[in-house]
Order: sequence, then structure tokens, then C-alpha cells
Amino acid sequence: MRLEGKAALVTGSSSGIGEAIALRFAREGADVAVHYHSEEEEGRSVAAQIEQMGRRSVALGANVGVAAEAEGLVRDAHAALGRLDILVNNAGVEIREPFVDVSEQHFDLVLGVNLKGAFFAAQAAAKLMIAAGGGGRIINVSSIHEDVAFLNYATYTTSKGGMRMFTRTVCQELAPHGITVNDIAPGAIATPINKRTLGDGELLHALQAVIPAGRLGEPDEVASVAVFLASDEAGYVTGSTYYIDGGMSRWNKGL
Ligand code: BGC
Repeated sequence: MRLEGKAALVTGSSSGIGEAIALRFAREGADVAVHYHSEEEEGRSVAAQIEQMGRRSVALGANVGVAAEAEGLVRDAHAALGRLDILVNNAGVEIREPFVDVSEQHFDLVLGVNLKGAFFAAQAAAKLMIAAGGGGRIINVSSIHEDVAFLNYATYTTSKGGMRMFTRTVCQELAPHGITVNDIAPGAIATPINKRTLGDGELLHALQAVIPAGRLGEPDEVASVAVFLASDEAGYVTGSTYYIDGGMSRWNKGL
């Protein structure tokens, strides 16, 4: 087991990639705090599965788009598990709409959850990790769209581009404390965020056509990279982005 004796908080872990990461961390020996926003029942069920594996868990509700709630979530996870070695900023939302239609409300929602929430959760976690003196891991679940354009998703790409530079800057400040900060950049993964595409044969086919691997990824294929970054083996890896996208970000028609 690669995470024995560690405690982790995974935001947005009531479903999708976050759920897969929380369960894999537990299987690797970690105690894991599960976070949910609207899906309380699902969050509790993930926490129950973790406890069934013999690990400690807790399901915590919060709107990470509010800085005080993101910070409170980190402190509550730390209090419940007695320590905090790993933070995974996974909670994320996206809204598909043309740039000219974006309202301040939508901008604040997407930037709030995806960027502000990750920023202040990381800050709260870093303070606790520095005080504990044992180093730590901050893993941001970004997207290939921290780098690759995404038509009609200006708020989402703005948030993920911000996450990329936040990671690159903060890694410098936290490295002296033995805390690493890295991004995971998934491409198209079969999770609820892609339900519109998954439910439409034509759209799904069009998406598969721009993925060199010819298929969507599975949440567990993202979780395996998160386990590596969270483990002691990755102690010298910081400020990096790991693409997990079946080659999607490198796709080109070759015309
Ligand atoms: C988005 C998905 C999208 C994928 C590939 C992800 O970040 O959440 O909606 O299918 O990128 O474009």
C-alpha cells in the first residue's frame, strides 16, 4: 500500500473523478475525507465504502466557491482525521455558452468553484502542513483546457488556465516545506460532467474521433496518477502538469 498512514481530503468526491480518487486513496491505505456540495447522499455512500475498507472517513458538505467554506472544509477534514497530508482540489463545474452571453453570475460560479475554491483550500491546507512540519501534497485536478482552447467554455478555460499558473507559482513557495503542488489534466473522462455527450451517439462519435486512443478515459485511469503524485515516490515532482487524455491534447488532423 502506497499511502499507508496518510490522511487526505478530496473535494468533489461524491461522484466522477473525485470519487475514484477517494476510493483509490483508501485502497492504498489512506484515511479520506469526502467532500460534497449538493450530493449529500452520494458523498455519505462514498465515505461508507471507505470505512468498509477499514479506513477512517467523513463526509463534509461545503460550497467551495466561498473562500471561508473552502478553508472551513480543510480545517474540518484535518480535525476529523487528526492530520492532513494530501489535498486534492477536484471540485469543478462547467457551463457551455458563447463568450458574449456570459453573465457575472456565471463567471463568479465557475471561477469561484474551480479556481477560488482550489486556491483557498490549498492555502488553508498549506498552513496546516507547514505547522505540522511533515511536508504534504497538493494535487489540483485541472483539465487539458488549462492549455488547450475549448469553444464556448470561456469561463472554464479561464479558471483552468488560472489553476495552471497558481500551481506553477505556489510550488516554489511550498517546496522548502516539503509540500509539492501539481496539476492533473484529464481529457474526456466518462463522468457525469460529460453526460450530454455520453447520451448522444453522434456527439460521442465526434468526440472519440478527436481522441487518438479512440475512447473516453475511465475515472480510475485518472486516480492512478493521483496515487503516484500523492505517494512518497513523487517527492521531487512539483509544479508539473500530468495529461491524462488518450492523446487528445496532441490530436491533429494532419491536413
Ligand atoms: C471537460 C469535458 C470535456 C473534456 C475534453 C474536460 O475538462 O470537463 O467536458 O469533454 O475536458 O474536452
